[in-house]
Amino acid sequence: MKSSLAFLSLLAASARAGTVIWNGFFNSSFVVADFDKWSFSNEIQPWQWYIHGPGATSEYLAVDPSYKNPADTTDAQGIKITIDGTSFWNGQTMERSEIIPQTSANLGTGHLYYHFSLKTSTVNPPDPADEHQIAFFESHCTEIKYGLISGEQGQTTDNTLSWDVGGVRQWTTQLQPNTWYNFAYDINFGGSGLGLWTSTGSDPLVNVKSGVSGSCSTNSADWHIGQLRLPNGDTSKAAEDWYWSGIYVEQGPITTSIAGPNPGTGGSSSSSSSSSSSTKTSSSTTTTSSTTKSTTTTTSTSSSAGPTQTHYGQCGGIGYSCVFVRLSFHHVTHLIFQWTYHLRIGNHLQGLQPLLLSGTSPASHPHSSRSF
Ligand SMILES: *[C@@H]1O[C@H](CO)[C@@H](O)[C@H](O)[C@H]1NC(C)=O
Repeated sequence: MKSSLAFLSLLAASARAGTVIWNGFFNSSFVVADFDKWSFSNEIQPWQWYIHGPGATSEYLAVDPSYKNPADTTDAQGIKITIDGTSFWNGQTMERSEIIPQTSANLGTGHLYYHFSLKTSTVNPPDPADEHQIAFFESHCTEIKYGLISGEQGQTTDNTLSWDVGGVRQWTTQLQPNTWYNFAYDINFGGSGLGLWTSTGSDPLVNVKSGVSGSCSTNSADWHIGQLRLPNGDTSKAAEDWYWSGIYVEQGPITTSIAGPNPGTGGSSSSSSSSSSSTKTSSSTTTTSSTTKSTTTTTSTSSSAGPTQTHYGQCGGIGYSCVFVRLSFHHVTHLIFQWTYHLRIGNHLQGLQPLLLSGTSPASHPHSSRSF
């Protein structure tokens, strides 16, 4: 009787679980040096790692069993992602440490759930005076934000952790250190209406928002796991640590258990079942993506960030616009890179700084950092 009940509940559990189409689970053998094995000429799964400051990878990333949500038993380890006063990538004024899915699966079709959990602590806590963009897509169609948002008035700090669609807050909580916040973005690609599932600690995910006006698209390589901080001209800010685990993309029905889709496996079944045979064209593509700063209205995004958007399209950061024209996949690339820094009340950004860059290969990019 007991065992048949257990069998029934197992059936029920597996009936509920969706299909994982990509995962960033950390098994027990994963070490931080594995991130450095990835490059644009060696695109090994499951992670891209190129958006970071000039320091060693170990300055910005660390994996350890103590860094995951303990309720998550699909992962063996979690990751600590750090930004500090060196975290300027590619000549930008934003501090960034971001890992990005590397996959041949199409993460931008159908009804998908983008799962992740995150936590901060009292050691290297985030600065509530600065805007942070977290777990965002290039189009900012759905993202987590923290801190005083650029343009926010009447206060100098803001401890709000929020879920934003197009730069507009949809759901908020006050960030508590040492609390795990679990999230799943509910995205109907090709359709409209965005949702959020969330919980804290080991509680199952609950659908707190649905049908929020907006739509997402992705090239399957622009979901930024990590933090982008706007330090407002300060180039020597203290380090901030954010802890992450349970990172995966699932085709519904959603797995609400924080134990994850493969409980008890500790990341050992971490090969992603990329069942969808996505075809990524490497032919000529022109992608225009623009992000316009806005804190009161929906960010306007004239974007065709479809499955072929270039990896140079990682402009991130609200407060300027980027236009990218891409001619071929990895080689001849002409970048028209226009940064238009907007004036912001009370900040130190310059008025208008158009910048025109062009190069024949990523390596000749005059603002090259390590891998770009
Ligand atoms: C651990 O994970 C990495 C990256 O996902 C993978 O390459 C490796 O084969 C895995 N090792 C084991 C023992 O499963």
